[in-house]
Amino acid sequence: MNILIIGSGGREHTLAWKISQSSKCEKLYAIPGNLGIAEVAECIEGISINDNSAVIDFAKSHEIGLVVIGPEAPLVNGLVDDLTAAGIKAFGPTKAAAQIEGSKIFAKNLMKKYNIPTATYEIFDDVNKACRYIKAAGTPIVVKADGLAAGKGVIVAQTVDEAINAVFEVMEQKSFGEAGSRIVIEEFMDGEEASVLAFTDGKTIIPMVPSQDHKRVNDGDKGLNTGGMGAYAPAPIMTEEILKKAEDKILKPTIAAMSKEGINYKGCLYAGLMIVNGEPKVVEFNARFGDPETQVVLPLLENDLVDIMLACIEENLDTQKIEWSSDSAVCIVLASGGYPQNYKKGFEIDGINKAKALGNLIFHAGTAKAGNKIVTNGGRVLGVVARADNIKSAVDKAYKGVEVIHFDNMHFRKDIAYRAL
Ligand code: AMP
Ligand code: GLY
Repeated sequence: MNILIIGSGGREHTLAWKISQSSKCEKLYAIPGNLGIAEVAECIEGISINDNSAVIDFAKSHEIGLVVIGPEAPLVNGLVDDLTAAGIKAFGPTKAAAQIEGSKIFAKNLMKKYNIPTATYEIFDDVNKACRYIKAAGTPIVVKADGLAAGKGVIVAQTVDEAINAVFEVMEQKSFGEAGSRIVIEEFMDGEEASVLAFTDGKTIIPMVPSQDHKRVNDGDKGLNTGGMGAYAPAPIMTEEILKKAEDKILKPTIAAMSKEGINYKGCLYAGLMIVNGEPKVVEFNARFGDPETQVVLPLLENDLVDIMLACIEENLDTQKIEWSSDSAVCIVLASGGYPQNYKKGFEIDGINKAKALGNLIFHAGTAKAGNKIVTNGGRVLGVVARADNIKSAVDKAYKGVEVIHFDNMHFRKDIAYRAL
């Protein structure tokens, strides 16, 4: 069948790389795709991923049998609903189901109602009440914009002043627009984080190999929060026992809770977890694959990904036997210096082929073509991914790949996977 991928980041490049290996995949397209995706798919310019009818027109005219949606915005915008109504199979949750990411209030209320472990919280639509609550509760405390804020709507405040400033920025100065008209203020959870992505058809939910992201920009988890500076899988913090708890207390109950609310959640459910004294608690849910987590999870998947995606859509995931390599995978993100704040674009990148020759996978996130050169075109530029039979060798192999790649102002963390070593 012809398959269409929606999105343009490292996650979508990884999806395209894996899907292109499927025996079911005849022709692969991406809207808009990127330079790396163009190695395995035809990239289509000029169609907005938020214009559902334009995407449907394209899918119809190109006889697309499956659409795979990478980012959250089109999911929250009902692309899956509209494709399904047009008779086109789409992998990802519906608009109603994607609320689990699109509204933190929806997610928190669902967890409270169904006793799914998470930080205790209160909801506010009034600045003064929020400030009074913060003064009474004390710090550290976490302030979250309700809606989508491109991963930036969360402030972990160490002081009362910081928390109150966050409330003003989010609610009054509207730094995330309408996403911040309501906020969640929640308990700070002290523990180690892990990401568990899971395939689900709304009845069965099967976790993927657990991974860990590195959100802070600098070594030692210092500096600003980013979209993710690197990842590795499997994450040893998720022991068999803790993963079992996450399945029994979080993943299965969440799908069942959605179902009780009349919502059939199909696609990938991403549970961002905090492990506190051996107990997993939910930090957040995402309605999609994580980035960079996908860059280390999918390279370890032994199955044909298209078979699993179709089983999710057709609600027979219980018939799939999903198998994982016993290898480890590591992803080092090469970013533009200055990211996640201001950075320059347009620097020539060299060494990509040298890194590939060393056996690394190179996933593109923010690259562009300038004449016959490849140049930087975003904050996160490339993901350098290595697989090996143990985490230490995978780390070494990934950093050998990083060594041969160069662009001006290149920034990367030198301690990816340090918790596993
Ligand atoms: P989120 O966008 O909800 O994943 O939040 C971004 C980051 O903020 C998370 O990855 C955590 O590192 C941190 N965070 C969010 N909520 C909490 C919490 N309740 N306690 C501690 N850290 C948190
Ligand atoms: N790596 C975090 C995310 O995808 O939201």
